[in-house]
Amino acid sequence: MSLKEDLREKMSEEELKMLRRSFEIIGDIAIVEIPEELVSKKEIIVQAILQRHRHLKTILRKVGEVNGIYRVARYEIVYGGKTETIAREHGCRFIVDPTRVYYSSKLATERARIAGLVKEGERVLVMFAGVGPYAIVIAKLAKPSEVIGIELNSAAVEYFRKNVKLNKAENVRIYEGDVNEIVPRLEGEFDRILMPAPYSAENFVHLLRGKVRKGGFVHYYTFESENFEELLARKVEGIFLKNGIIAKAVFMRRCGSFAPYVNRYVVDLQYVGEL
Ligand SMILES: C[S@@+](CC[C@H](N)C(=O)[O-])C[C@H]1O[C@@H](n2cnc3c(N)ncnc32)[C@H](O)[C@@H]1O
Repeated sequence: MSLKEDLREKMSEEELKMLRRSFEIIGDIAIVEIPEELVSKKEIIVQAILQRHRHLKTILRKVGEVNGIYRVARYEIVYGGKTETIAREHGCRFIVDPTRVYYSSKLATERARIAGLVKEGERVLVMFAGVGPYAIVIAKLAKPSEVIGIELNSAAVEYFRKNVKLNKAENVRIYEGDVNEIVPRLEGEFDRILMPAPYSAENFVHLLRGKVRKGGFVHYYTFESENFEELLARKVEGIFLKNGIIAKAVFMRRCGSFAPYVNRYVVDLQYVGEL
């Protein structure tokens, strides 16, 4: 049953229309969107959530969209107090504080999909690694020789280090800093590079040159309007070509929504060569 249905007797039809059907749960923290018009109903909404999710220790109300290069939203605490929690994904645990770092439980299925593609012995690079969910899920569910994760936000790096220890992910190496500076300094080629970029992934494609082995794979994440979905694979191949890289889109899927009619997509590309 949805939050709207739980609130049906306590709020008018008009008010219910303003409420989102679902909300995100990360460990024992719930993140809910309550529009300004419904602020007076905050307590009723909080109680309805707690009724159904008794394990929750904190409820955060999103008061500003995910933004900035660290991709962290602004929140108001509407229940509880602590903002650090442990999220669980595919047998892995991630310590996170959503008020300081990016983490989305909604990408768990996508992470497992990627881990399922990684073959034994692969060398994998995760750009924009956050608190380490892609790197650690790959290290634990597959058998890569090494996974390198790069992250700029020092708070996220702090959690990434804790999460590597917590999950005993021995073959994960963390680099703190900007991908623009770190990727060119990495030696050798990778079998697979993930680009869960915070925005404009196309600005980082040039970094891939000389870093992916022929036949290797790149997972390119981007936001696109639903209307242009069918053109996306060709568009991304074009972006690679502009950067002197011949890569063939071999798979594409929607892996989340961003705004009305705008979704997050992943395009898997196989590296053919460079111009
Ligand atoms: C959309 S989040 C993805 C995080 C992680 N991959 C995940 O799925 O939870 C993008 C991350 O990229 C980081 N970031 C932004 N610009 C960066 C840069 N130039 N170099 C390295 N990391 C960067 C942000 O701090 C943020 O943690």
